Amino acid sequence: MKEVFLIEWKNEYSVNNEEIDKQHKRLFELINDFFNSFQLGQAEDSLSETIIETINYTKYHFEYEEKILKECRYPEYNIHFKEHVDFKAKIYVFHEKFENGDFEVAYDLMLFLRDWLIKHVMLEDQKYKNHIKT
Ligand SMILES: [Fe+2]
Repeated sequence: MKEVFLIEWKNEYSVNNEEIDKQHKRLFELINDFFNSFQLGQAEDSLSETIIETINYTKYHFEYEEKILKECRYPEYNIHFKEHVDFKAKIYVFHEKFENGDFEVAYDLMLFLRDWLIKHVMLEDQKYKNHIKT
């Protein structure tokens, strides 16, 4: 079956840091995998695995990004950090609902991930672009 790509990486999303770009690309990939699993009507347990993998990778990526931003004394660190905290709180709520049997929530989670990630990478992450050392 032809893969349907929900989101596509664009060069303009680059933050001039190879590792962070790589991680952002991986996040895009995970969300697309999530979308494909959903489209294919995969069983709840495999969808659950995809959700957990996406959440774990997001956490790993945020920690990495926060470390870099701290190291370079990014002036808007606190604002950026708060965005990450709020995002994590939201995905935990989605995930809990899913684990409690609300499988319909997977679709809302997917759209939330897609919209938040694109907005965050395009706007918030672009702001630190000139502050970080590559
Ligand atoms: Fe970020």
